[in-house]
Amino acid sequence: MRALGYQAVDALVERWAGLRDDVPWRGAPYQDLRDRFGGEGPAPEEGEGAAAVLEEAIRDVLPLAARVDHPRFLAFIPSAPTWPSVLGDFLASGFNVFQGTWLGSAGPSRVELMVLEWFRQWLGMPSGAGGLLTSGGSAANLVAVAVAREAAGNPSRPVVYLSDQGHSSLLRACRIAGIPREGIRILPTGPDLRLDPSRVRTAVERDRAEGAVPILVCANGGTTNTGSVDPLAALASLTRELGLRLHVDGAFGGFGVLCEKGARALDGIGQADSVTLDPHKWLFQTFECGCLLVRDPGELDRAFRVTPEYLQDTQLGAEQVNFGDRGVQLSRSFRALKIWMSVRSFGLNAFRTAVAHGIDRAEEVEARVRASRELELLSPASLGIVTYRFRPRGWEDEGPLEALNRGIQGRLREEGTAMTSSTRLNNRFALRVCVLNPHTTRKDLDDLLDRVERLGRDLAEAYRTPGERPR
Ligand SMILES: Cc1ncc(COP(=O)(O)O)c(C=O)c1O
Repeated sequence: MRALGYQAVDALVERWAGLRDDVPWRGAPYQDLRDRFGGEGPAPEEGEGAAAVLEEAIRDVLPLAARVDHPRFLAFIPSAPTWPSVLGDFLASGFNVFQGTWLGSAGPSRVELMVLEWFRQWLGMPSGAGGLLTSGGSAANLVAVAVAREAAGNPSRPVVYLSDQGHSSLLRACRIAGIPREGIRILPTGPDLRLDPSRVRTAVERDRAEGAVPILVCANGGTTNTGSVDPLAALASLTRELGLRLHVDGAFGGFGVLCEKGARALDGIGQADSVTLDPHKWLFQTFECGCLLVRDPGELDRAFRVTPEYLQDTQLGAEQVNFGDRGVQLSRSFRALKIWMSVRSFGLNAFRTAVAHGIDRAEEVEARVRASRELELLSPASLGIVTYRFRPRGWEDEGPLEALNRGIQGRLREEGTAMTSSTRLNNRFALRVCVLNPHTTRKDLDDLLDRVERLGRDLAEAYRTPGERPR
């Protein structure tokens, strides 16, 4: 056991130490992998020996993946966990903690309560607010929508309001939670990609006049697309006035509250009725670690608690929280351990600095893009995200611009310069950079933009005249 464990730890340390010098992404099409790792054959009847299998996993399987913790992985949402987080996950697995009931895990449940209380304080939610850790932001959003429906008395014509910039998991949450298609309003945002409270008011009043029951407004505490933040304080007072709930999806940006600029951007987040956070994003935790906080955790119990006779031994009174009663999962792992270990190991200050780092680096990217004659800013830096594109002088048509920028992105990935991802804003193809990793340096980002300009010029040469497809 020790030898295998040391082998695994050695492989991890080696990977971490060499990360910067390696490429940020490796992948392969299915065809290339069909016959590997045992192929499509049956599971082996006889064991092959743990050491050999471990070696194969480390050598062949695990490297064929994006390194989302690589300093030059700037795509989607990066995730760069702390070493205590990795160890916390390892210990939680090894101790195989069952964190569905207090009876099953008194110490770990106490630690989860403690971590949730930290989050409550960071967000500025009222005392007494609480919730649970989940597998991720999607699960937290699902619980938020389901609890809103239950708290509203499960009306037959519920309406939920989303922004057109809201994360897809919110739409999926509505579907799973049984919000009928005609009760899902996707409100268009303005040019600043933020929800306009007056638009929300109009929609709610219209729905009420038609006999539907508005139950929830879902706002963004940092959209995945551009990092834009809805006017949370204004939406909180509007929803209070209108008598419906406000949920803030802070899965991507919520931990921005840990630094000054982020807290300013997220002003009002603590006034929401529920907030989704994703510690596996900007709190530097390993997957899977999401969180939902609600003003009144009793709402969760009322919405989800079911007490079958075979669990009667677990009902120990309200103080002894059964986290299995607060959401979807009964069998849950001890996710709080990694957070508790990370924050205590480094101190909160280190996390504040690490979060501020991403925001500052993204602002530098914005400044660099603005200073370039060939790069066009498509959305300003917001909570670590900037979008832009390469645009040679005289290029107007969207089609060729998209082909050119797709080409640039593909080349960046192939050559291992950086892994970035793209999106679409107002029908324009956008290159997107998301800086969450505290090891991403200003030089990494300068090098990236230099390379984008160089590749852009080279690829644009492949067009005979502006507007034509590449040769
Ligand atoms: C704003 C936002 N909400 C929800 C999610 C879904 O979170 P998860 O992937 O942890 O389920 C994401 C993930 O990127 C996100 O950025």
